[in-house]
Amino acid sequence: MKIVALSCTQKRLPSLTDALLEAAVSGVVREVRDAEIQRIRLIDHRIAMCEGEDTCLDPEVGRCTLDDDFEHVVELAEGARAMLLAMPVYAGNVPAVLKIFQERLKSFMNARQRPFGNLLVGTIVHSRTMLTEPALGALFPWYLRLRNRNVASACFTQNDHEDLTRTAAYDLCVAVGRQLGMTLDGSRSPAVERTALPLVQSPSRPRCGDSARQVHPSPASSHDTVTSGST
Ligand SMILES: Cc1cc2nc3c(=O)[nH]c(=O)nc-3n(C[C@H](O)[C@H](O)[C@H](O)COP(=O)(O)O)c2cc1C
Repeated sequence: MKIVALSCTQKRLPSLTDALLEAAVSGVVREVRDAEIQRIRLIDHRIAMCEGEDTCLDPEVGRCTLDDDFEHVVELAEGARAMLLAMPVYAGNVPAVLKIFQERLKSFMNARQRPFGNLLVGTIVHSRTMLTEPALGALFPWYLRLRNRNVASACFTQNDHEDLTRTAAYDLCVAVGRQLGMTLDGSRSPAVERTALPLVQSPSRPRCGDSARQVHPSPASSHDTVTSGST
């Protein structure tokens, strides 16, 4: 089963993003025995910015005419069922290398099968001090457009940790990978026997949306009706 591991770091050399992504890969491999991992580091490819000419949407042309590695990257992901995506926060948002790639994928807007679409996804976002959650949220319009389903995410900030790969962040990345793997193969029982968590049953209480008649009347309810002009 083909699974894309998409690294959205902008470092040329191995980075924290890559290390966290590898932890997630180890998790998915543990759950999916026939996993075939296709690693893609966007920064290693020449992907030019969309120039907004919309030739890709012109029925006479029908494809992006920029000459770079974009189509090759699209081919790398062909046939994938799932994706692990890891990215650092840059300026409170997704790094430019990913934004540029997202914009280029628009060229397949009218295609029957959209590259990097219809995937189950696990997402890892990390930063030095803040804004991981908003950056994660910024991915969702893209995921939704591509009909991707995010099944697990993890957000970390480095703060005073010298090496985030030696913290609980590592275990959480493995867990994101494992959760993706288990979702891919929901029919298989979990590899490790787990003690099921006890489900907490709350006493039946009125909930938002229950009709007024179903709600148990409180002692105060008889005073709730105010007749106009009664004062
Ligand atoms: C251009 C740039 C912008 C950044 N913006 C933020 C930010 O908004 N918030 C934050 O907490 N860290 C920010 N960082 C720090 C990175 O998220 C952090 O160093 C991360 O570990 C880099 O990952 P990498 O090793 O894969 O490049 C920024 C770093 C760079 C280079």
